[in-house]
Parts: sequence; structure tokens; C-alpha cells
Amino acid sequence: MLLSLCLFLLGASTAKGHTCTDVPGKLQQLDAGAGEVYGITTSGSIYKWQRNMWAQLPGEMTHVSVGPAGVWATNKGNLVFKLQDNNWMRVSGLLKQVDAGGKKYVAGVNPTGVVYCLNQYDTISRSPYVQFTPIPGRLVYYSCGGLGCWGVNNVSQVYFRYGVKPTACDGSQWWRVEGSLVMLEVGTDGSVFGLSSDGNVYKREGITYTNPTGTSWVNLNFRHQVKHLSYDAGALWLLNLEGDIIRCEIPGTGLSHLI
Ligand SMILES: *[C@@H]1O[C@H](CO)[C@@H](O)[C@H](O)[C@H]1NC(C)=O
Repeated sequence: MLLSLCLFLLGASTAKGHTCTDVPGKLQQLDAGAGEVYGITTSGSIYKWQRNMWAQLPGEMTHVSVGPAGVWATNKGNLVFKLQDNNWMRVSGLLKQVDAGGKKYVAGVNPTGVVYCLNQYDTISRSPYVQFTPIPGRLVYYSCGGLGCWGVNNVSQVYFRYGVKPTACDGSQWWRVEGSLVMLEVGTDGSVFGLSSDGNVYKREGITYTNPTGTSWVNLNFRHQVKHLSYDAGALWLLNLEGDIIRCEIPGTGLSHLI
């Protein structure tokens, strides 16, 4: 009787507050996807989270992304790189932010906000010569996952791109989603997490196959002010303003057969 009461209380407290743990290290940006996590320090060093340690990779980058489309990164000259046979291969194109979360397609934005994507054929090609497709509209951040791509523009408006397919990654139309965010990340299972300019973390609720844009933003009420986030497989990875790394267990949208 006493034991079951204790278990009940434990269950209740973890469901309300989030189960978060501090991860060693300091990062400027990080990305979780396809069961892996990569991060970039303020000086541009690249690390992969492996066996509960950060293992350094060669090179210097400003943004990294990992997902079903592989590991992609951009550097301070906006050059685009793809990890191939454990080496960074420069590919054609100029991007400021790149995303490998699409199922074998890549997307990103250039320094002036032009949105681009890379169809499956070029994404899985081993050639450095690839052809990015421009998408109409301007964004500062663009992220893809199980049910499509989401972005934010320079005035924090949020958009969903309809009709994105691996072989037609440019999609069909933009849909303005309510809310005000500075960045967001889409998980492979379709989950969407966003960050407001004051450092609050929001989860998009109500995402389903028939309603991929969801129904509402829910503030996860973390204690820390957050400057960057990424979600994969039940874990939300956060960077606070100092660059400290926090890993929280959060249920996703539950569209698990997308993975
Ligand atoms: C935002 O981007 C638009 C182009 O999409 C540009 O016309 C506008 O000046 C930009 N605004 C700010 C505040 O940077």
C-alpha cells in the first residue's frame, strides 16, 4: 500500500515537471536526429555525443544538422558540407542554416533569407555537385521532419510548408501558423518545438496526419531561458543562454511509425 502510494507520487511529479538532466559541455548550437546528437561550440568546433561523451570531429562549422538525410553543416563563409565516409565534403550551394531532418531531403536558408531544399536524388548522391531548389518566400530558420517543414521569418512569424515530398521538396504552399517564434525544430516523428524571443520553449500540440499544423502552442515552462533547442526520439535538447546543455524527456506527438 505504502509502496504503491510512493510510486503514484513519483509518477505524478515526473509528469508535471519535466525530467531533465545536465549534460557536460557548452555549445552554441546543437541538433538531434536519427538517434544521434551533434553540437557546435562558440569557436566553431564540432562534437558528436557518443557513449555519454562529446567526441570532436575535424573542421570548423557554425551550424550542424543530423537526421534521416545524414549529417550536414555550414561554416562561417556559408559553405555547405556533408559528412561522407567520416570526412566533410563540401557541396555546391551557400547556406547559413541547413536541416537534415527530412526523410532523405535537405533544406535550409541562405544569409539573405532565401529558402532552399535538396531533393532526395541529390541528397543521397555522393557527388559534391548538387542542385538546390529555391522556394518562394523569405525565412531565417527552416526545419523539416516527419510531416513536412516549418519555418520562421525575420519578424518571428511561423509558417508550415504544405506538399513537401522527398522528390518534390519545394512543396506547394505556405500556411501561416499563429504564434511568434525565433527558431523551431521538427522531429522525425512530426513533433514541433519552438523558441520565443524571450527564451521560452513551446510544443505544438494536436499534430496529426490530417492536421499537420496542429492546434496550439503549449509553453513547457522550463526554469531556464533557452537560446537553442532540438528534439529527437523522446528527448528535447536545450541550450541555456550560457550554452549549458540540458536534456529533457518529453513525449513526442506519438506518430512513431513515421520513424
Ligand atoms: C524582413 O524581410 C523582408 C523580406 O522578406 C524585408 O523586406 C524586411 O525589411 C525585413 N525586416 C526586418 C525587420 O529585417
